[in-house]
Amino acid sequence: MSKIILTGDRPTGKLHLGHYVGSLRRRVELQNSGEYEKIFIMIADAQALTDNFDNPGKIRENIIEVALDYLSAGLDPEKTNIFIQSEINELTELSFYYMNLVTVSRLQRNPTVKSEIQLRNFETSIPVGFFCYPISQAADITAFKATVVPVGVDQLPMIEQTREIVNKFNSTYGEVLVEPQALIPENAVCCRLPGTDGKAKMSKSLGNCIYLSDTPEDVKKKVMSMYTDPNHLKVTDPGSIEGNTVFTYLDAFCKDEHFEKYCPDYKNLDEMKDHYQRGGLGDVKVKKLLINVLEEELAPIRARRAELEQNIPYVLEVLKKGTQAAHVEATKTLNEVRAAMKINYFDDQALIESWEKKFQG
Ligand code: TRP
Repeated sequence: MSKIILTGDRPTGKLHLGHYVGSLRRRVELQNSGEYEKIFIMIADAQALTDNFDNPGKIRENIIEVALDYLSAGLDPEKTNIFIQSEINELTELSFYYMNLVTVSRLQRNPTVKSEIQLRNFETSIPVGFFCYPISQAADITAFKATVVPVGVDQLPMIEQTREIVNKFNSTYGEVLVEPQALIPENAVCCRLPGTDGKAKMSKSLGNCIYLSDTPEDVKKKVMSMYTDPNHLKVTDPGSIEGNTVFTYLDAFCKDEHFEKYCPDYKNLDEMKDHYQRGGLGDVKVKKLLINVLEEELAPIRARRAELEQNIPYVLEVLKKGTQAAHVEATKTLNEVRAAMKINYFDDQALIESWEKKFQG
């Protein structure tokens, strides 16, 4: 079976380091591995509208921001189709058919939906569209017969729900759909990069994000004000690594080579951590290393973005081409789905003949 990737992001804001280490960096590696026959990366505007239906302007603005982030982070339109979800009407049709295969109580048990309902204070007034978004996500994945879905850990319940829908569909109508596997980051810290304030997750509303498009000055300022160990008051005090955001970020970004280049007092992160824990290592030195490490990663991304920003027609062309390719694929799958569900009346010659016979003497 050919290896196919589908994944995507809701365009509710620019992409930040949490997106980058949680999924985007991996996608670029997978793309460049040459192991995948087809790669589809989707800007999930229709899904974003399920909890932003009253703010379409925000979603629209962020289509271009996310596209710029994708391309500047290294997604290559020669290898990867970047497309816009709402342009692929087959996805809506698939969702409608899949709704028959999922119960309300199963959706209520989906942990991601549950926590998002709490987060948004929907309680008793949950929009039906929002409630059904796991079904639409199953449509996104299956329309491309994706075998691999690179995502953050918060998306695992969605992939599980997709697999259930695939099984239910295939056992009811015949083998058409493909069961996907989730691919989560290997490095546990990358699964849930905390915000710069040490809070659970980077989130635009908490103002604790470092964006891929931040200027060097922004990055420096944000790192310098990062949450560390509040009890590490003097340089000589022993410091704690646990929950120390600067070290968490170093865990996600730092390689041994960085020490030789930026901080030759230590061979690797473990040595630096030991010193911090013993006492005698100040926060500023650790933060300066992190700034250098982040800049090494972000500078080329920023430079590509600056170029792309001067060529928006090119970015739109990329989106159009990707969308066309996605459309071709989704149409193929939808046709198979319709045939399996016996709703392909005009294409089914045997059916037409049987109808003719039924009424002939
Ligand atoms: N739910 C994903 C997010 O919140 C976006 C998304 C929509 C997605 N459809 C998908 C991810 C299909 C992977 C596969 O970012």
